[in-house]
Amino acid sequence: MTEDIGRRLVEAIDEFAGTREGFRAAHAKGVCCEGTWTASAAAAKLTGAPHMQGGQVPALVRFSNAGSDPESADYRAEVFGMAVKFLLPDGRETDIVANNLPVFFVRDPEAFLALTKARRLNPKTRRPAPHRILAFVLTHPESARAIIYSARHLGTVPASRVETAYNGLHSFRWVDPAGTGRHLRYTLTPEAGVRVIARGEARTLGRDYLEQELTERLARGPAGFRLSLQLAAAGDRVNDPTKAWPQSRERVDAGRLEIERLVADPVADCERRVFDPTRVIDGIECSADLVLAARRAAYSVSIERRLAQKAE
Ligand code: HEM
Repeated sequence: MTEDIGRRLVEAIDEFAGTREGFRAAHAKGVCCEGTWTASAAAAKLTGAPHMQGGQVPALVRFSNAGSDPESADYRAEVFGMAVKFLLPDGRETDIVANNLPVFFVRDPEAFLALTKARRLNPKTRRPAPHRILAFVLTHPESARAIIYSARHLGTVPASRVETAYNGLHSFRWVDPAGTGRHLRYTLTPEAGVRVIARGEARTLGRDYLEQELTERLARGPAGFRLSLQLAAAGDRVNDPTKAWPQSRERVDAGRLEIERLVADPVADCERRVFDPTRVIDGIECSADLVLAARRAAYSVSIERRLAQKAE
């Protein structure tokens, strides 16, 4: 995947949402935490990856709202993100970057460009242009299905960033020490359970209610997530993030992530770093999902640009 597609994707987001200088083109508003990851014995059977062998691994976690405005009101956001960076003792890093949708809306970068263009507001009325969205879904039936499938997530907002389940959406291939590979997808499942509230209720809590809730909650004690793996079976579409796999697929508990505290220096720990889902490590391979490859290109363009802008 070339840098060119990365630049085109970021420019499309800029035109749609108006990126703020020095911030992420997407998921600009975020809160940065530190925690500890402990893999289960079952994880070590599926991969030789160093952070999946048991023992405690420090982690950085960034929770975010998907839009390009770093001051967006939490009650207005439509998609919520969770990014995890595992910090290995030898200085290497590997990331998981997930959101609260059950599937992604497009299965290749050209469709992402077409959808982002279709979603642009009419410059005169400042309202969406339904005929453009309709034209897009008629030519992309897999996206129409994914949007309908996800619609139930769009009416409500999380009660808490740590009472939300986050999905990796792409598949990855975990390779065990004997060389056997399995395709699987990630879900970060909150131990406290999933709880949503109506947007109207969230509005009464204030624009930054999610950060406020997280700060108060972590002051009382840590919050936990389990990393759940959904294993693909023969015939599952491992390279198509618009397609959910049947609920009946085997699930494996890969371990526990404990979120302990907000970091002391969010700029150094999260805002000047990139969380990239393609930053994998021995024992974990990216699938051939075209969206996943395109994300690597887009995230590189976005981090290079925001660091250069901050330095100016
Ligand atoms: C073609 C599809 C996509 C494009 C073009 C795209 C673009 C971007 C960009 C430009 C950033 C900012 C990167 C940075 O400056 O560090 C970003 C961040 C993020 N994206 Fe995506 N994205 C795509 C798909 C996805 C998917 C499928 C997910 C969830 C599975 C996702 C979740 C996130 C999250 C959670 C962040 C914030 C990461 C952090 O906290 O640093 N994105 N995305």
